[in-house]
Formats: sequence, C-alpha cells, structure tokens
Amino acid sequence: MKANLITAQELTKDDILKIFELANCFRIGEPRFNHPIGRDVGALLFFESSTRTRLGFEIAAWKLGIKTIHLNKTKNNKQMNRGEKLSDTIKTLNPYVDFFCIRHKDSKVFDHVLPNTSLPVINCGNGYEEHPTQALIDAYTIWLKFKRLDNLRIVMIGDLLYSRAAHSLIYILSKFSNIKLHQVSPKELGLPEELLKELQKRNTYQHTVLPVWGQEDVVYSTGFPPVNPSGSFPLKVTDRYIIRKTDVEKMSKESIILNPLPRIDEIDEAVDDMPNAYYFKQNEYGLYVRMAILKRYCL
Ligand code: CP
Repeated sequence: MKANLITAQELTKDDILKIFELANCFRIGEPRFNHPIGRDVGALLFFESSTRTRLGFEIAAWKLGIKTIHLNKTKNNKQMNRGEKLSDTIKTLNPYVDFFCIRHKDSKVFDHVLPNTSLPVINCGNGYEEHPTQALIDAYTIWLKFKRLDNLRIVMIGDLLYSRAAHSLIYILSKFSNIKLHQVSPKELGLPEELLKELQKRNTYQHTVLPVWGQEDVVYSTGFPPVNPSGSFPLKVTDRYIIRKTDVEKMSKESIILNPLPRIDEIDEAVDDMPNAYYFKQNEYGLYVRMAILKRYCL
C-alpha cells in the first residue's frame, strides 16, 4: 500500500493495530521480514533538528533495504545564495526518490508538498501541530505494556498546547474507549479545544494545574520546549512539572512513564532506574514502529 501519513486523525483503529502487528514482526525478527526487500530510495527532509526521528527512520529504512538521501536546508535558507521554494525542491526530488519523510517548523508545510508529488509523504513533525509517527510509537508502547488501548487512565503533564506528539497521541487515543485523560499543566498550556472535542466523543478528561498521583496507568511527560510562541516559562513554574522519585513513589505501581524525548529536565535522571521508567524502552520500540510505517505506507 502506498499512502500518506500526515495526521493521526486519519488513522483508523484497523490502521493502528495493523502497524502494531507489523512492528511485532520486526521486534521478534519474523523470518519473512528478515531480508532487505527493495531498491527504493527515501528522501529524509528535516528542516528542523531531530535525532530520534531522522536517524530512526534512516536506520529503519536501511534495515528494510531502502536507501536514503537527506536535505536539511533548501536554497531559500538565508545561508544559500539564491531562493528556492520548498515546492520546487519537492518537484526536483520527485523523479529521483520513492517517498518523503518531512519535518518542518511550518504547520502548513504539507500544503506546499502534497500538490507537488504523488509519492507517499510521512509527517515527521509539522510545527506545533502533529507528530503522528511519534504518537504511533507512544501508543505501541502503551499497547505492549497493557495489551489494550481502551480502558486506560492517562496523565499528560507539561506544555500540552505546543506538544505536537501529545496532539497526535490524543487523536489516536480518541479512537478507543473509556480513556480517562488527566491534563496537568499551567491553565494556558492545556491541549487545544478541538482535540478535546474529538476525545470527548468516547472519553472523559479533566485538567488540574498541579499533579495528583495515584490513579494513572500512563504518565506522558512532554516537558516545556525552550522555544514556543508564548515564550519560555520561568523555572519556578516548570519546576512544578518535573517528575522526581518522590512523585513516582506516589504513582500506581504498574504505571509507566513515557516521554517522546529529548528529555530536557522534565524527568529527574534518578527516575531512570525505576521500573515505571519506560521512555528508553519506548525509544527502542521506535525502530520497529518506524519500520512498520515504512513497510505499510511507502513500499
Ligand atoms: N521525539 C522526537 O521527535 O525526537 P527528535 O526531535 O530527536 O526527532
């Protein structure tokens, strides 16, 4: 199947579970998926910095026998001597490659991309809007731990207004039932209203400014990105949202803590050795989910 993955809104329950099944095959090394399967070339266009997503998709591609090319600046970058629109860059690469993985700070970037290619396009983060591939990794980690995506108590903590990964995860969770979402953030940094409306069709949510631990299955920590349109927040505000050992000791015993990474300071390093710390496991699962995404959407 060749298709775009631009927003988690368009993922059906069936899509999500099919990706998880494929990820399982890659994780357990099922023999029919062990051999490189093609001569495709993927263009990784990352106009914003990235460690996990860019390198993760590159390694996932290599393991599938896909070659990769990269671009992180177009000629419209000030450091280059002549202007070139992203739409022209896409038109230029279109005959050379088989799919695009794109990250860009402009939330509307795909308005310039999609009209100029019929190749599969994977959204690797667009502005503050969405990060569907990260959210599939997050959801897969939850699904592996609890064997379900229904009937879960989720705490999201940090700057939820500008966390694109949190937005996409909400779109995924909104397809499932009996999710009790507890947002923990400064009042003005809660999830956007339109997402909550989507979630509310089958599920419930509450918002508190400070955490109340002890009734959670998943704690999804987003931190406070140092640069956001509302400006950075002073330490005495963000400090209230740092997860420390003393917080984890108050959480439900079986709960897991996730973070899309990079971690800045939102989870104390002393938490890393606790059994609830799942963020590096989540990162490891990212490889299998990215392989599954490439297999399902790009080959
Ligand atoms: N989680 C995530 O998107 O990480 P990178 O910015 O390193 O890709």
